[in-house]
Amino acid sequence: MEMNISSIRKEYKLHSLNEKDVNLNPITQLKLWLDEAVKSELTEPTAMALATSTPTGRPSIRIVLLKEIEDKGLVFFTNYGSYKARQIESNPFAAVVFFWPELERQVRIEGYVEKVSEEISDKYFEERPEGSKIGAWASEQSKVIDSRIQLEIKTAEYYSNLSSI
Ligand SMILES: Cc1cc2nc3c(=O)[nH]c(=O)nc-3n(C[C@H](O)[C@H](O)[C@H](O)COP(=O)(O)O)c2cc1C
Repeated sequence: MEMNISSIRKEYKLHSLNEKDVNLNPITQLKLWLDEAVKSELTEPTAMALATSTPTGRPSIRIVLLKEIEDKGLVFFTNYGSYKARQIESNPFAAVVFFWPELERQVRIEGYVEKVSEEISDKYFEERPEGSKIGAWASEQSKVIDSRIQLEIKTAEYYSNLSSI
């Protein structure tokens, strides 16, 4: 049977959005909503779609995890050699959207991206679990690899180096 996606409907009736109910500071409001998303034990409450684009406006989008909210903006981490990082390098304007379907809520944010300090970046990397660190060393994000086996060999090498330290 052919799927009829046009007939899929959901009624959104959990909340209404009224100016008087939200904080004047959007960062404060985001923290409140994020807190609610975390407490509601949603899957990946900090996941956000990050849109970047080339200088000529050709967009691309992917999911990244929010790691910090500062007064100045949102912090996420990625590989500086990735496609998104190269786009940001040439065009710093970006947008993110959080979507928490169970809360019937989305939040979108637009702005420009700048690098956090090396210190913050290194600290985050150091705190990552061993497997994530090795994954980051072994795979060059967004790059085409020659073969899966090549990636597996590199990963195994990093594991054996770690255990021999
Ligand atoms: C739930 C989830 C969380 C992710 N978090 C991150 C992240 O925090 N940073 C990151 O660089 N990639 C993250 N990724 C992988 C990206 O979505 C993407 O595949 C990768 O960064 C390469 O993107 P690019 O080629 O557009 O640069 C995540 C993917 C998923 C599904």
